[in-house]
Amino acid sequence: MVSMEIDDSKPLNIFFGPGTVDQLTNIFNRHHAKNVFLVTGTQSFDSCTADSNLTSILSGVKFNRHSHQGSYTSTEDLESALSVFGTDEFDLIIAVGGGRVIDLAKLVRFFSNPESNVRDYLKNQIPFRLTGAPPLVALPTTAGSGSEVTQFAVIYLDNLKYSVSDRSLLPDYAIVDPALTFNMPATVAASSGMDALSQAIESYWSTRSNTESRGYSRESILLAMQFLKESVLEGSREAREGMAKAALLAGKAINITTTTAPHAISYPLTTIHGVPHGHAVALTLGALFVHNAGVDEDDVNDARGAAYVKKSISEINELLGCPSDIASRNMLRELMQSIGLETDLRKIGVSNRADVDAIIEQINVERLRNNPRDLTRDDLQEILLELCGGIS
Ligand SMILES: [Fe+2]
Repeated sequence: MVSMEIDDSKPLNIFFGPGTVDQLTNIFNRHHAKNVFLVTGTQSFDSCTADSNLTSILSGVKFNRHSHQGSYTSTEDLESALSVFGTDEFDLIIAVGGGRVIDLAKLVRFFSNPESNVRDYLKNQIPFRLTGAPPLVALPTTAGSGSEVTQFAVIYLDNLKYSVSDRSLLPDYAIVDPALTFNMPATVAASSGMDALSQAIESYWSTRSNTESRGYSRESILLAMQFLKESVLEGSREAREGMAKAALLAGKAINITTTTAPHAISYPLTTIHGVPHGHAVALTLGALFVHNAGVDEDDVNDARGAAYVKKSISEINELLGCPSDIASRNMLRELMQSIGLETDLRKIGVSNRADVDAIIEQINVERLRNNPRDLTRDDLQEILLELCGGIS
């Protein structure tokens, strides 16, 4: 693990609620911020600032804006951001965007030491010492990845997904102002909302769940069930606020547990078939309900045993308002369809066995270990083929 000279013992400061973006002024004052490195998305930044004071707050400081393009963060994206970061002395890093934007800002700070080497670190986990890195403020514009409250960041090297995990990746401040999501397009609300719901569910059944993580998951699931559909179809401010909170809580939950099989399977669906992250995760979530509910002592991964896992799944069914795992699967499929997300893998380009095999080849094995029930290659094949309508 990387050792830190900056203070990583202090807790993350979280501000939640409409208007909390104003907290940025206090943060600027506290850190005497004069020169800010600002990481944003391309369009989300302009649309999110319409309903907030963000633009006028930022006008009080000098900033260098780095726009992150693309649907995920590649090593080349990070190296390009680092080359800009290295040209000046910044006293604060601010990320305004979805999960990939916040992840990029976390990684810029993490690898800001000129002696660090991203590729060496990813391939060999060669540790380095992080010194003098400026504080990081994360403002999510989607609801969402929860990246603003996690110590993970996703990055791709040569099309392979890596999850960097280190306490020092955690931002110093998370400002979750739902007003930043009021102009989020419905398609983004749908995909990011399913990410939040999936993360809450996966965290609940994770082998690493505990009382605290389950408390966050429980509240997150209930909020998502209440507000996700309305957030997408009507975009009401109340629903957007509800989903902002659901996403924040799900982020806190996975920061304790990490994610499980639906996330592990999702990454190749994004890299090979271009499916947005939350949509890609949700595609197999229902099938994993049924798979995990069938656990027994021979294939259980959770040290608390198969009966414990079965009870957990029943509790999630209850939170979703469903009487069984099959009912939960069906409800999730209908929910996805009602918010405009395709559920048939063939329609996103998985049309034959070779496509299924290519996905399985790139599945993140590490995240599969957190899944409460083992997943063999045959299990994965069966799940994916079924989602393709049983192609042969
Ligand atoms: Fe996610």
